Amino acid sequence: MKIQALGYVGFESPRYEEWLTFGPEIFGLQIGDRDPDGTIHLRMDDRHRRLSVHPGEEDRIAYVGWELAGKAAFDEAVAELSHKGYAPYPGTAEECKQREVLRLARFQDPYGFTHEVYYGPTTTVGSFLPGKPMAGSFVSGVDGVGHVVFAVPEFTPELEKFVTGLLGMELDLTLPAGKNRPSGQFYRCNPRTHSLAYVILPGHKGVHHLEIESTHMDDVGRAWDLVQERELPITVTLGRHMPDTLISFYMRTPTGFDIEFGAGGELRDANFVQTTPSNPEAWGHKFVGDGLPATIRPLTPEQQPTAKD
Ligand SMILES: [Fe+2]
Repeated sequence: MKIQALGYVGFESPRYEEWLTFGPEIFGLQIGDRDPDGTIHLRMDDRHRRLSVHPGEEDRIAYVGWELAGKAAFDEAVAELSHKGYAPYPGTAEECKQREVLRLARFQDPYGFTHEVYYGPTTTVGSFLPGKPMAGSFVSGVDGVGHVVFAVPEFTPELEKFVTGLLGMELDLTLPAGKNRPSGQFYRCNPRTHSLAYVILPGHKGVHHLEIESTHMDDVGRAWDLVQERELPITVTLGRHMPDTLISFYMRTPTGFDIEFGAGGELRDANFVQTTPSNPEAWGHKFVGDGLPATIRPLTPEQQPTAKD
């Protein structure tokens, strides 16, 4: 299938209401409408859905939404999912309304994480109003939210088949393990260096972090000051990644996963040539966090990956 972008991400969390202040005050995300069950939708552009936090008993990622160009691409993707044994569940009219898309189909990856492909997201031109004054705007639009990084116990052939063979992603980089750093696999589907990535944590699975980006470094600097003033949990200090050139920091969210907030991420164009970074970091990015994100949990025997044709 041909995925255009990471279109939206949904989480469940007992502390979901903290996002009403956390999202706008730290990053400038806009609070969108609320669902009757209390779900909070946070906006980063004129799309109605980008990051949704639903009430739930435990902190977990609920779904990842992959955007397709239109009906033809969607029909093709659903046929491919069926053909390859992923048993796509067609979103009901009510579910499509909740996600504010024309149609969606839901399926699971080899580790049981829920993914959705969709087309036709609702957009209101000129409606985005940042949750606080921003120097720039969010890097989003047709290239999507940013990137989502899962932790998996092993990067199995089944998972590789899922990411490259089914989702049609292209490998951007493999990062070997280092001090305090698990190995990682980074995949792209558009000019962003990666929209989906995996870190390998034996015996564990879950969501590690979600990256969002501003067009202006001052937004990152101001957020960096603010999290220190408020003594919020920083997990990785300000620094610049070498592979994607992003200047960013990581912090723990009220839902237990990390948000990486950055600026200056490189885009891949037709002239892109793969290089080998001599170090994952150009500077900074010291690990100062206290343990794994709460959204990463030990694997149970039933959660072992299953093979698909
Ligand atoms: Fe990242």
